[in-house]
Amino acid sequence: MPPRQATPPERHLLQKTLSYLPYGADLNTAISGRLLHTLPPRYSYTVDRALTHLQALRRHGLLDLGDTTWLEVGPGWAPTCAVVFHLAGVGRQWLYDKHRYFRTQYLHSMLMELSCHLDRIAAVCETEVATIRQRYERIEAAADLSVLAHWCDLAYQAPADALDSGLPGSSVDAVTTTLVLEHISRDVLRGLLREWRRVLKPGGLMSHIVDHSDHYSHFDRSISPVHFLKFSAPTWALLSSSLSYCNRLRECDYLAMFSEQGFEICHVASDTDPRALSAVASMSLAPEFCTISPRDLSITTSHIVAKKRI
Ligand SMILES: C[S@@+](CC[C@H](N)C(=O)[O-])C[C@H]1O[C@@H](n2cnc3c(N)ncnc32)[C@H](O)[C@@H]1O
Repeated sequence: MPPRQATPPERHLLQKTLSYLPYGADLNTAISGRLLHTLPPRYSYTVDRALTHLQALRRHGLLDLGDTTWLEVGPGWAPTCAVVFHLAGVGRQWLYDKHRYFRTQYLHSMLMELSCHLDRIAAVCETEVATIRQRYERIEAAADLSVLAHWCDLAYQAPADALDSGLPGSSVDAVTTTLVLEHISRDVLRGLLREWRRVLKPGGLMSHIVDHSDHYSHFDRSISPVHFLKFSAPTWALLSSSLSYCNRLRECDYLAMFSEQGFEICHVASDTDPRALSAVASMSLAPEFCTISPRDLSITTSHIVAKKRI
């Protein structure tokens, strides 16, 4: 008989236990990396997301990239977005991460993978492929992160909390995050929005890709992308740990918070999963989600672009 799969609450409790152990975060990374095959990162998906940011930011006016400074919060395991942005011509970049996840072994495999996407980068930034290839050839032999950072003009700050970046006010042209905001509590997110408003230049832009789904549904097909919406707030607080925290905010919550904090929403692209829609129709939702429309609850990913209001 195949071994019984752990239920979602059992997985949450395992991660909660790990979060209290010395080296618990490393153990969690090893377990999820090996058993769930989440590592090495899937660079091609991150390249797609980096191109989504680039395309939208260009469409909203960031065309002359060479003179611009970008801030990425939560790059995670490899500087994939930052290298795509460098190849596209972005001048200077700040990368802030609360944890120092970058590994040299991921850097080399990421750079190799990027060689297959140079024509896509060229198409998005309407530049000759030869120019992008020249930039790539200048950095492809980077032996480690410090060399790459020097060649690409990246400043990797980790461990560092983006809540208090220390960057000068009005010094950044664009802020990006990819699969980060859903892991941040409502209060901290409010603080981050205030900080991004401070560091962005007048009219500066933000581009955020947010995954609203129950992350366990990524590898367990027996649960739906909205499975976690059945837990009440107190139960969710009990199940949550620093290793697997998810705020469960929906797209409408982010849009309201961005507006409250002085940003004008320029673009929203939402993906709705049919599995989520049918699950919402039949499941018993926690009270705090009952007032949200089934369509809003079933949005699994959003791409939101917003501008600092002057
Ligand atoms: C799920 S990972 C996303 C990694 C990567 N962007 C990707 O697409 O694979 C979330 C990242 O956000 C970082 N993070 C969360 N809160 C942060 C904060 N306040 N300041 C800086 N980094 C933060 C975490 O350390 C982690 O590296």
